[in-house]
Amino acid sequence: MSESLATVAYIGATILFILSLGGLSNPETSRRGNLFGMIGMALAVLATIAGPRVGSAGIPWIIGALAVGGGVGVYAARTVKMTQMPELVALMHSLVGMAAALVGFASYVDPAASHGFTGAEKTIHEVEIYIGIFIGAVTFSGSLIAFGKLSGRIGGKPLLLPARHALNLVGLLAVVWAGNMFIHAHSIQGGMTPLIIMTVIALLFGMHMVMAIGGADMPVVVSMLNSYSGWAAAATGFMLSNDLLIVTGALVGSSGAILSYIMCRAMNRNFFSVIAGGFGGGAPAPAAGAGAAAEPAGEVVPVTAVETAELLREAKSVIIVPGYGMAVAQAQHTVFEITKLLRAKGVKVRFGIHPVAGRMPGHMNVLLAEAKVPYDIVLEMDEINEDFAATDVTMVIGANDIVNPAAQDDPTSPIAGMPVLEVWHAKTSIVMKRSMASGYAGVDNPLFYKENNRMLFGDAKKMLDEVLTALRA
Ligand code: TAP
Repeated sequence: MSESLATVAYIGATILFILSLGGLSNPETSRRGNLFGMIGMALAVLATIAGPRVGSAGIPWIIGALAVGGGVGVYAARTVKMTQMPELVALMHSLVGMAAALVGFASYVDPAASHGFTGAEKTIHEVEIYIGIFIGAVTFSGSLIAFGKLSGRIGGKPLLLPARHALNLVGLLAVVWAGNMFIHAHSIQGGMTPLIIMTVIALLFGMHMVMAIGGADMPVVVSMLNSYSGWAAAATGFMLSNDLLIVTGALVGSSGAILSYIMCRAMNRNFFSVIAGGFGGGAPAPAAGAGAAAEPAGEVVPVTAVETAELLREAKSVIIVPGYGMAVAQAQHTVFEITKLLRAKGVKVRFGIHPVAGRMPGHMNVLLAEAKVPYDIVLEMDEINEDFAATDVTMVIGANDIVNPAAQDDPTSPIAGMPVLEVWHAKTSIVMKRSMASGYAGVDNPLFYKENNRMLFGDAKKMLDEVLTALRA
């Protein structure tokens, strides 16, 4: 393939990536968006392999790497459970970071990669390498820690080192100092020492950044690392002088940054404070990590599935609030069966979606779309929060942190200030979960003890099946 044909293919791929991102912003067009992304990536890979920069000697290596990488990817995608997706995504971000760092080292030691640059061009090339390795290393170690936290291998409690801001500052100054040494090094051997020093600092920086973040603020970190992985890819594009990689990386980087901003707004957090760490762990620190049994803080009123069906049957309006537990129980199909039945009886049923419900952005929307719930009854938190007061029954299905009134009432709570779905304003709220265990942020939930709240204990799928049977009876 000639250089110009490869460029045309790259432009085609870029347009497809932009269309893909546009499609993914709405559940109704997301399938098409995915398809555009897949076609764009296939085109990009083909144009790269067949392009003028890959000699025939490199083809077997590329095919071998594609087979191994593709095989691992297909295996992971087929075996991963929906609830493990966020961990898988974090792990994949770490691979992008690792690739950027490795490409950086390779470009530095390979004389062919520097195209015989001298003077300003050489300096620019070295700055690209330095920044590329820095972003790559931060993304790599940060994503690995995020993987550990999301999979429960590392506790959710933030690690708050004394003088952590000073430590970050010293690290940053050391990176600048090493950068200066690197640029002025007279040989590859001489530049290698500051490069390695910076890489170690960047790895520690990535670890520290994510370790310092409390459980409930993890969504911001996940989208932030998504953004970093994009910038890491863009940096790789600069190092390899590959325009498509630069554009694609910048698309991922900027859309990830916008997502982080949306997440921060949804959590009522300041972006820079989240990066600097220490949020989500306000005193007094409760149970470390999700699922720890909370101390009883009052009386709860349990109900049966039959009583729940009775309440639903008598209601004129119902709001369903799904959370992580619905994903675990895979209860979305039964939820929709109940919705259809109630709607057929003239009950107004809507869904209230919190921006950080579940474990990844859009988690609940994906599940409800899979169950074919119509989009027009699925509303965002801002669109529905005012309506709870005029609602007869709210059904909270496997959600906890996102409906916790302590976020509003208790300034010492680790989730203080986070906007929540105000389900307790409804005439009756019913919370479905298996026990009194806390949610991801590890905090007790005063909702459970409210006078108008009922608890339906059990696996969400099993309980909803029973509710459905009772409704049909
Ligand atoms: P959580 O606060 O984690 O609560 C989920 C609840 O579901 C748990 O209390 C659990 O209680 C219950 N549950 C688990 N399995 C169940 C089953 N089979 N049947 C019924 N209930 C079950 O979830 P949420 O309310 O969706 O809030 C999300 C949390 O995750 C937030 O703190 C958010 O910050 C964090 N987070 C979100 C993201 C993104 S991007 N969405 C990423 C990382 C972290 P039992 O054990 O008693 O059943």
